[in-house]
Amino acid sequence: MDGPEEVYKRGDMIVKVKEPLASEFELIRAGQTIFTYFHFASSPELTNAMVKSKANCIAYETVARLDESLPLLVPMSEIAGRMATQCGAKYLEKPMGGRGVLLGGVPGVAKGNVLILGGGIVGTEAAKMAAGLGANVTLLDVDLNRLRFLDTVMPANVTTRFSSPSAIEELLPHADLVIGAVLITGARAPLLVKRQHLKTMKPGSVLVDVAVDQGGCIETCKPTTHDAPTFVVDDVLHYCVANMPGAVPYTSTMALGNATLPYALQLANQGWVDAAINNAEIRNGLNIIDGVVVHPAVNADYPIYPYEDVDAFLSRKKQPDFNIQGMAKPMTTTKQSYA
Ligand SMILES: NC(=O)c1ccc[n+]([C@@H]2O[C@H](COP(=O)([O-])OP(=O)(O)OC[C@H]3O[C@@H](n4cnc5c(N)ncnc54)[C@H](O)[C@@H]3O)[C@@H](O)[C@H]2O)c1
Repeated sequence: MDGPEEVYKRGDMIVKVKEPLASEFELIRAGQTIFTYFHFASSPELTNAMVKSKANCIAYETVARLDESLPLLVPMSEIAGRMATQCGAKYLEKPMGGRGVLLGGVPGVAKGNVLILGGGIVGTEAAKMAAGLGANVTLLDVDLNRLRFLDTVMPANVTTRFSSPSAIEELLPHADLVIGAVLITGARAPLLVKRQHLKTMKPGSVLVDVAVDQGGCIETCKPTTHDAPTFVVDDVLHYCVANMPGAVPYTSTMALGNATLPYALQLANQGWVDAAINNAEIRNGLNIIDGVVVHPAVNADYPIYPYEDVDAFLSRKKQPDFNIQGMAKPMTTTKQSYA
């Protein structure tokens, strides 16, 4: 197929990576299923366009398991975590603006110190990479069970600490590289490194705030892009790219494809109505369908658009006699055609 116009014209279901661009809004048709990241909270224009389009918008970021884990966000966190150490090591080099430290050291020369705030997916992957380079790694979290797990599985050059303002103040002056990797689901990232802390850090040390997409956990962080990824505040180099996996699109696309494929196949084979009824993870991904918001978080951000509970909406779409909880109601009328 040649170009986006033809793809959108011919495809009943479009599987993407990033949110539709403004240039794609006009191409999206009523009844077409779009399976991709949407992040509606950050774009009123996209939300308005998708409501108007009457397309079926199924968002990767809200596909959720029963344990509330988000399987289609994990690959991006894994990539960003590994990249955080790789980028941090690069920007510690003198020509890149850093203090000229090799994280692993060499025989007879001390290793670099890496401080990681948050031991979730990003923090764990960052710690594994930093440990592999031979650095001294300190990994902080507020979840004791998580710390117990990390303490068991991490190599000997990774130390776990309970995260607190005093622990962070104690560790910052020794750090060559600090990686911000905290998340409080649904909330802005907590500010763990304040502006006044920078003066206690070594000149030329590097801060990588991966949590920048949730507001950042470092007060002086502001979102940057791959074109101009860094800036300096108080002699400390900041790297705050909001879409880190975008720098490694080959790996990112393969990793995301591995995670999305089973859902995409179910959607393609069963159609979005049956797929959503049969699979609660897909049902959690329904955001805007046929001009109606069906996800409570999107409704909370955009109460101006029509909203309907997803189960009620699906029951109506399927047939008036169908009870989404899994019980087909006794048929009392002639079978309705599916929408
Ligand atoms: N910039 C990018 O390109 C990019 C890519 C992927 C993910 N991210 C972001 O990275 C962040 C981390 O994502 P994740 O998937 O690792 O989340 P996660 O939920 O797996 O881990 C977050 C961890 O932070 C811990 N935490 C919460 N408060 C803390 C505190 N005060 N001190 C220390 N730890 C604390 C939690 O206990 C949890 O273990 C998120 O904001 C995510 O959006 C950014």
